[in-house]
Amino acid sequence: MTRLLTGIQSSGRPHLGNILGAIKPAIELSKSPDKECFYFIADLHSLTSIKEADQRRENTLAVAAAWLAFGLDTSKNLIYRQSKVPEVCELSWYLNCFTPLPMLQNAHSFKDKSAKLAEVNSGLFTYPVLMAADILLYDAELVPVGKDQKQHLEMTRDIAGSFNHQYGDIFVLPESKIDENVMTIPGIDGQKMSKSYQNYIDIFLPEKKLRKNVMQIVTDSTPLEEPKNPDNCNVFALYRLLASPSEVEQMRKNYEGGNYGYGHAKQALFEVIRDQFTQERERFDYYMSHQQELEEELKKGEAKAREIASVTLGRVRKVLGF
Ligand code: ADP
Ligand code: TRP
Repeated sequence: MTRLLTGIQSSGRPHLGNILGAIKPAIELSKSPDKECFYFIADLHSLTSIKEADQRRENTLAVAAAWLAFGLDTSKNLIYRQSKVPEVCELSWYLNCFTPLPMLQNAHSFKDKSAKLAEVNSGLFTYPVLMAADILLYDAELVPVGKDQKQHLEMTRDIAGSFNHQYGDIFVLPESKIDENVMTIPGIDGQKMSKSYQNYIDIFLPEKKLRKNVMQIVTDSTPLEEPKNPDNCNVFALYRLLASPSEVEQMRKNYEGGNYGYGHAKQALFEVIRDQFTQERERFDYYMSHQQELEEELKKGEAKAREIASVTLGRVRKVLGF
């Protein structure tokens, strides 16, 4: 059994980019019988940006509901809240004391974020150490992440390697699994879809709001009757990710033939989202309105996660003399 682990921050509701770029591929991986997957909600990490308790609680549940709505099988895999395994904070402290300061100072993600933010807290700075603890605590072997997280994985390996060098084989060295083919899903403004840019499509919205969300996609002002270039259009870029090849071909012809407006294309995109995710949308709503059930799934994962965490932490405490 190979142990896979990945986390998604609860800094917002999961959007189409998170779903196509992270959740769906991770669930596909979890179906392989020789893999055991630990998928968690990085709610402690979200504290670096979100300070509102209700907002975090809601986002945390929404991320959990999305994993379950997309079919994560919790009889073989685990889903849990990072904060419910407080052992991770203890390990994070130990690892901090083995992390050279320049390693954190050179982190691209910290440099990018701190250049944009008005207030930079030290949680943002030590973020990669908590992430290393997330991974090392569970002896994870493979960590599927987006390209932006590659450096964090290298840091995890470096920290674990230098710890092992001093104390013997305490940690498993994880490999990152970066799918170079996963494309960056564009948002309604054509930039990378992201919670931070407020340009996302929330596929879990009720039908009317979802349609409104799709209608917000920015297009140019080519008049309805004129032919249009599908390859320059955000609506088409999203449609081709979801519709069947023949539907995509048809839409391309419609664009090129003229007398086909962006409104028509948006309507088709809305319908394909609604129809393709009918079951997932229903299941998401089910879990969001049956939070007790969601809570039970999470608790089941958290109990197992803590058992494993306490074993690893036991090894660490012992060699450190605590
Ligand atoms: P956001 O940018 O919305 O804050 P996160 O950084 O929390 O998203 O990313 C969570 C996961 O979703 C990561 O694995 C990331 O690679 C993936 N992801 C986020 N946005 C996109 C996108 N636009 N296209 C593809 N994958 C994405
Ligand atoms: N930093 C990751 C992100 O923003 C989320 C994360 C936290 C994570 N801990 C992790 C991912 C451990 C993989 C493994 O996308």
